[in-house]
Amino acid sequence: QEDIFKKLVAHCKEYGYVFQSSEIYDGLGAVYDYGQYGVELKNNIKKYWWDSMVLLHENVVGLDSAIFMHPTIWKASGHVDAFNDPLIDNKDSKKRYRADVLIEEQLAKFEAKMDKEVAKAKKRFGDSFDEKQFRETNPRVLANQKKYDELHARFAKALNDNNLEELKQIIIDQEIVCPVSGTRNWTDVRQFNLMFATEMGSTADGALKVYLRPETAQGIFVNYLNVQKTGRMKIPFGIAQIGKAFRNEIVARQFIFRMREFEQMEMQFFVRPGTELDWFEKWKETRINWHRALGFGDENYRFHEHEKLAHYANAAVDVEYKFPFGFKEVEGIHSRTDFDLSQHEKYSGKKIRYFDPELNESYVPFVVETSIGVDRMFLQVISASYCEEQLEKDSRVVLKIPPVLAPVKLAVLPLVKKDGLPEKAREIIDDLKFDFNCQYDEKDSIGKRYRRQDAIGTPFCVTVDHQTTQDNTVTIRYRDTMEQERVAISEIGKIIGEQVSY
Ligand code: GAP
Repeated sequence: QEDIFKKLVAHCKEYGYVFQSSEIYDGLGAVYDYGQYGVELKNNIKKYWWDSMVLLHENVVGLDSAIFMHPTIWKASGHVDAFNDPLIDNKDSKKRYRADVLIEEQLAKFEAKMDKEVAKAKKRFGDSFDEKQFRETNPRVLANQKKYDELHARFAKALNDNNLEELKQIIIDQEIVCPVSGTRNWTDVRQFNLMFATEMGSTADGALKVYLRPETAQGIFVNYLNVQKTGRMKIPFGIAQIGKAFRNEIVARQFIFRMREFEQMEMQFFVRPGTELDWFEKWKETRINWHRALGFGDENYRFHEHEKLAHYANAAVDVEYKFPFGFKEVEGIHSRTDFDLSQHEKYSGKKIRYFDPELNESYVPFVVETSIGVDRMFLQVISASYCEEQLEKDSRVVLKIPPVLAPVKLAVLPLVKKDGLPEKAREIIDDLKFDFNCQYDEKDSIGKRYRRQDAIGTPFCVTVDHQTTQDNTVTIRYRDTMEQERVAISEIGKIIGEQVSY
């Protein structure tokens, strides 16, 4: 699986999806650029999210707030004091790690051992295999489950108590070694703030220290009143935003999974106090359905309760996807109470209330947020789509990206570069290019061109041949099945339109 991940990263580079930032200068850690196909996939993901949140929900509206905000916002939100990661160094390799991530990886090892036993048994017993019963009775699975549960409980308590010594003790007791030096020579654990700071303008007393936002959410909170009043919004209602966020992440591994500059798609839903946990459940369901609708297999998603609630939350859950390196968070759904709005009331001195005409009273609304990383969703889509297939004579690498998200929807390929076929192909593109992202390709054999489109993830290839010039029909080849069909040119738009709409 790790091997597949390496190939997938290489594929992203080779086919113009993702490049290391500043590559000709040897790169910049945990910062990436999106290439010609990457940007299209990213835009399609954002549109898929935006349409489902803003267009489909009458009571959710959009916003685009600035990255720079008044520095007091980050004091009020708790980020200046509490947005920290616990770090630990290995004295031999001088490498720095997140203590919590080291322990999470240890937990994942126990999970992997259990999964391995299950996979072995599945192979042995075939269809008659009852996984649930096996997990509840097999001694090796049970032994690992016990280790997992004990470590999980201890870890969750250490995080909740913010007990840095205990985190170190867990790392020692679990005999966790540094992946680089292989030794257990650890320093103490200490806190490290994740916000990037810079300076804005200059005053007689010096420049103003401002932060690059570590989440887009605060831009929504500080605009709550503006949107509610100007949009005459009635509670419950939501504000959605897509934008960049920045975190000085120390563990910068796994490609675009954890970046220092990334993009978030967040929605803050303002509700009447006391109803937040119902809304929390509702949004949990709405969001998992959004993920599942892409068809990557329901079994590859799960909810994960947080070990530690953030300083602002009274309930929190992650949507996790089974990446090649295990189940990992793609999205967070949090019940943030009235923490943020109350803090902004306190720090700004402005009343941030809602007058509820039904109750005939004013209150600070409670907030349920859904927060997903664009880049992480991108990695999820690529991970789920990447396939290596053995065919009868050769093999192919294909990205089975859902057509609605695919960067290029259709390639139009003249069989040969003469006899009017290129012109006919151009005509087809001119007709369709306002509706779909089309690509023209006449280089190399038709087989090679199909392979190139497979590797990019293009769901449809239209081939123009000599028969086309006589009867205005073409062959349409479907990426996933490789089946071909003869259709009228006038039909192409409809066939593709049906598959790329939602
Ligand atoms: N406003 C709440 C919030 O920011 P979070 O769990 O810290 O919550 C939400 O982040 C989502 O943002 C995550 O589920 C993940 O998809 C994405 N994300 C967070 N940090 C990231 C990073 N360093 N690189 C890429 N994506 C990240």
